[in-house]
Amino acid sequence: MLKVENISTYYGQICALDNVSINIEEKEAVSVIGANGAGKSTLLKTIIGELRPKIGDIQIEGKSITHEKTYKLISRGMTLVPEGRHVFPLLSVWDNLLLGGYTLSHKERERRAEEVSEPFPILRERRNQLAGLLSGGEQQMLAIARAMMSNPKLLLLDEPSMGLSPKLVFEVYDKISELHQKGTTILLVDQNAEMAIDFCSRGYCLMAGRLVGEGTKTELKESEIVQRSYLG
Ligand SMILES: Nc1ncnc2c1ncn2[C@@H]1O[C@H](COP(=O)(O)OP(=O)(O)OP(=O)(O)O)[C@@H](O)[C@H]1O
Ligand SMILES: [Mg+2]
Repeated sequence: MLKVENISTYYGQICALDNVSINIEEKEAVSVIGANGAGKSTLLKTIIGELRPKIGDIQIEGKSITHEKTYKLISRGMTLVPEGRHVFPLLSVWDNLLLGGYTLSHKERERRAEEVSEPFPILRERRNQLAGLLSGGEQQMLAIARAMMSNPKLLLLDEPSMGLSPKLVFEVYDKISELHQKGTTILLVDQNAEMAIDFCSRGYCLMAGRLVGEGTKTELKESEIVQRSYLG
């Protein structure tokens, strides 16, 4: 479904991704783990077209999307839930949700909001409240539900558990799991390496912009570099 081939992404002179290749099959859940500054967010931003790789190619279903604009990628079925949630605190929960469907007609947007909020009863209960009053975990769920408004086939998640209590982390992962079971393909980045590895069937390990490991869940867990660096 998604193929990232030998990409290198720079911030000016700084090389943040160095010759990175990953691939994701339809309906898979794939993790990317790595320490602070390893290049995880850069990888997701490069895939969604917010950053351009200097070298390399990115393809969806065999077609190059390396130079495609972000809004086009969203309409082609890819969405990013960025690091740090980014809900609009002074807008209502429901208006935040509707914003995710900006490409839809008014009527379709309302219909879609009802549909995507179904797995998130808290968002329905509190639809008229300001989003800033939701707890961290609830805001994360709102950010995920909002991303689902564009009906993505591929959901890119950047640190969905960041800043959440262990209980909320499990709740958020439960919801992601529901979306995955309904057929959404998932690329998951999380500093909580154990959580991310366990959730996904396969994964990649980034270190200072380079891939240093990849494999199935079991292979990653048994890999010396992953154990030493991330699993203690
Ligand atoms: N806008 C920017 N300008 C310059 N350098 C940047 C910029 N954004 C990120 N970097 C650098 O690129 C490297 C990779 O950053 P990135 O945000 O992708 O890491 P990350 O793996 O997502 O880290 P974290 O776990 O802290 O979110 C880091 O060295 C970072 O300092
Ligand atoms: Mg990051």
